[in-house]
Amino acid sequence: MSASAPRLTGRLVVATHNPGKLREMRELLAPYGIEAVSAGELGLPEPEETGVTFRANALIKAEAAAAAAGLPAIADDSGLCVAALDGAPGVYSARWAGPGKDFRHAMERVEAALRERDDFAPAERRAWFVSAIALVWPDGARLEVEGRVDGALVWPPRGDRGFGYDPMFLPDGHERTFGEMSAEEKHGVPADGSTALSHRARAFQALKQALDAPPA
Ligand code: IMP
Repeated sequence: MSASAPRLTGRLVVATHNPGKLREMRELLAPYGIEAVSAGELGLPEPEETGVTFRANALIKAEAAAAAAGLPAIADDSGLCVAALDGAPGVYSARWAGPGKDFRHAMERVEAALRERDDFAPAERRAWFVSAIALVWPDGARLEVEGRVDGALVWPPRGDRGFGYDPMFLPDGHERTFGEMSAEEKHGVPADGSTALSHRARAFQALKQALDAPPA
């Protein structure tokens, strides 16, 4: 993360074509009096996510949007990493669901890959979600933060409240999977300043802290 972020004023591009992510970013940025416009609304093309880390992909998306729009731009990239699979599916989390975005299939793929491992043992179902957020200014200044939540993978999947891999992810210290939790419980940013639960909410907390820090 860079030490101090330039002040954010005026308009900012949220480099996503995903309405859910746009809504979350707008809510986060609202207290700063910033007008958030999406890359989709501006008709900006989606760059190819060629990075091998979440951070690199977030930066690719934010840099492309900042350059195309001449405005500061924010982007995120996220996914599930499984310890016994050497961090897979990782940056390929969305792609494991195939063109039909079938996450039941993606979860089955993760489970099958785990069972194929010679060293597979129920105790070795450690996994974590990561969310990387990059904020890039047109002059090249940038701010990068990351959030992570650790847990274990359960099988069969439980709950139908979340999205993606939520039903098989049991966060440490909890007895319900992300798929069994309300959006507020999973993604909410506690008003009392305590640590949020989800990777994305934790990345948001880190971003907010960096934006609120006095200039160096
Ligand atoms: P992105 O849109 O490139 O960041 O892809 C993220 C992918 O990672 C999603 O399609 C999901 O499969 C997975 N993912 C990221 N965050 C979560 C989460 O909070 N719950 C479940 N799956 C997630």
